[in-house]
Amino acid sequence: MNVTAQARELLRRDTTWPFLVPRQRAVDVSHQVILYVEGLSVSFDGFKALNDLNLYVNDGELRCLIGANGAGKTTLMDVITGKTRCDSGSAWFGRNIDLLAHDEAAIAQLGIGRKFQKPTVFEAHTVYTNLELSLKGSKGAWSALTAALTGEQRDRIDRVLETIGLVNARYQLAGALSHGQKQWLEIGMLLAAEPRLLLIDEPVAGMTAEEAERTAELLTSLAGEHTVIVVEHDMEFVRSIARTVTVLHQGAVLAEGTMDQVQNNPDVIEVYLGEDA
Ligand SMILES: Nc1ncnc2c1ncn2[C@@H]1O[C@H](COP(=O)(O)OP(=O)(O)O)[C@@H](O)[C@H]1O
Ligand SMILES: [Mg+2]
Repeated sequence: MNVTAQARELLRRDTTWPFLVPRQRAVDVSHQVILYVEGLSVSFDGFKALNDLNLYVNDGELRCLIGANGAGKTTLMDVITGKTRCDSGSAWFGRNIDLLAHDEAAIAQLGIGRKFQKPTVFEAHTVYTNLELSLKGSKGAWSALTAALTGEQRDRIDRVLETIGLVNARYQLAGALSHGQKQWLEIGMLLAAEPRLLLIDEPVAGMTAEEAERTAELLTSLAGEHTVIVVEHDMEFVRSIARTVTVLHQGAVLAEGTMDQVQNNPDVIEVYLGEDA
């Protein structure tokens, strides 16, 4: 990335990333549910990508979302994060925040962090600076590079480095990290903004078995303090982390339960007949 492209990228992120200030509005999870999705429908040129979809996710849960290509998983995340408008239905963050009334930048600020499949770290900066930029973006990415951190911010970065297992890589350039480490760094960049809900798309694609195992541990450790929704195709991975699995099919929920329950569900078996569900 040349300097101009990098500047443009910094400015782009400046408006779209979940930054700390202003402080997140408190999410009302008094009914233990942090995400309410009801009757959600989205169509593209008459094709229903989401078809009257209902989904409830508890506060602190680690939920796995599975389903064949085209089932609607990404579209669902797009609606939750304000990237795609729906035709009908509702999506609430806790009992008090109507997600459909907010745009993408506002939703990020409300405490919903999203990680796309491909890692997009700043390769020419150190691990530490990448985390620093995620903390301080609201003041402007350029001033973030020059202004001193407060003690509290340094502590937060240290905690994130420990969580993502990159303490010893803190002064390495992000570009020199392994694919797995870049994925962890990007999860760390989300964590630096202290989100309540994390949406993570196919985190272990392209990882070694050992990296996938460490990612399973990382995501499991995030649940509780955070709510995590993971889209993943790797069934061994899903089995290793999931408490509750939601199966999407043709834009609606086909089945929900433990991995054993969904794998033995007759509807799931029928849809995946002959496939490796
Ligand atoms: N922007 C779009 N325009 C037209 N069709 C789309 C668009 N986004 C998704 N789709 C279609 O909607 C369906 C659901 O896609 P998607 O949510 O990406 O599924 P998944 O992530 O489960 O593979 C697919 O048939 C896809 O081709
Ligand atoms: Mg997808």
